[in-house]
Amino acid sequence: LVTGLVDRFGRVATDLRVSLTDRCNLRCSYCMPAEGLAWLPRDEQLTDDEVGRLIRIGVAELGIREVRFTGGEPLLRRGLLGIVGAAARLTPRPSLKLTTNGIGLEKIAGALKEAGLDRVNVSLDTLDADRFKELTRRDRLDDVLRGLEAAAAAGLTPVKINTVLMRGINEDEAPQLMKFALTYGYQLRFIEQMPLDAQHQWDRHTMVTAEEILAALAPFGLRPDPVSRGTAPAETWLVPGHVDAAGEPARVGVIGSVTRPFCGDCDRTRLTADGQIRNCLFATEESDLRKLLRSGGSDAEIAEAWRAAMRGKRAGHGIDDPSFLQPARPMSAIGG
Ligand code: GTP
Ligand code: 5AD
Ligand code: SF4
Repeated sequence: LVTGLVDRFGRVATDLRVSLTDRCNLRCSYCMPAEGLAWLPRDEQLTDDEVGRLIRIGVAELGIREVRFTGGEPLLRRGLLGIVGAAARLTPRPSLKLTTNGIGLEKIAGALKEAGLDRVNVSLDTLDADRFKELTRRDRLDDVLRGLEAAAAAGLTPVKINTVLMRGINEDEAPQLMKFALTYGYQLRFIEQMPLDAQHQWDRHTMVTAEEILAALAPFGLRPDPVSRGTAPAETWLVPGHVDAAGEPARVGVIGSVTRPFCGDCDRTRLTADGQIRNCLFATEESDLRKLLRSGGSDAEIAEAWRAAMRGKRAGHGIDDPSFLQPARPMSAIGG
């Protein structure tokens, strides 16, 4: 019998986002410092079996229907294929997705599809190799582009691209990125930058807003999307005159987390690589499932602790509140 993850506001979490590692092979300047961060010690990271057990409890006891693997960079997780495969064998089978920076995707896309992964989202902020190197502190643009192609070829579709525009850095690139996505049939989404960087340097004024993004896309004559957005973070528009790789009308999305918050429809619960449940991207408290797991907790006890964690979920992220405090854990250790 499934008793789901319901909060005080009646929201039901059916989408589990699992961070598989806090490590990354890029060093995006808006995310982390050049030297990287103090990575989680290995013994604090959940084992593959522990991750598998928590996903199973989520699906079997808590009504999770969708699992998204994130990081850091999830392709760095050695046991990735096994974890995906185990999740794909669950009943009812959850839909399985992954959000990656695309490095190394070229090699593993086919195996991920075979293991049961349904889709990937790839982060890409610029199409200019020099700019990519400056922004990510690594010269890997070609790897990402090959990763995108491999994902599409493997059928991990529709492939979506996540772009964060930043003032004075890549804010001029929206039209080029749009043309690129239309050419290859990827679905592009622009994300408003959120106060989740490790350096705590987020500034509302350097954030490129949803309104500005839409203004930059005006030449494409966007039309409202007749398909309801449901609980998705992205608001989508149709791009007239274009189709995606599957022949569906081409779409572009804007994830306006700051200026157009969607917290009221949130259906997400998060598991960190060290076994903590976060009931919100911006939660300042976490619930320790690792401790419960490692002290012999039963499935029922773990499920109940997870439910309790979600009951404490706040109404919204509170970025606009004068008392807003950025969570201690940065985006790279939550997985977005
Ligand atoms: P699909 O559309 O199904 O592919 O999923 P998605 O958009 O949830 O996936 P993805 O991991 O690509 O998320 C894209 C971005 O949306 C993340 O990097 C975050 O910036 C943002 N996002 C996802 N979930 C949340 C959330 O709960 N709150 C906020 N504020 N932003 C979120
Ligand atoms: N705000 C919004 N998006 C962010 N990302 C990383 N840091 C932030 C932030 N502070 C994006 C990455 C990637 C996705 C996982 O999250 O660029 O596309
Ligand atoms: Fe860049 Fe994502 Fe890695 Fe952060 S976690 S450095 S945003 S690729």
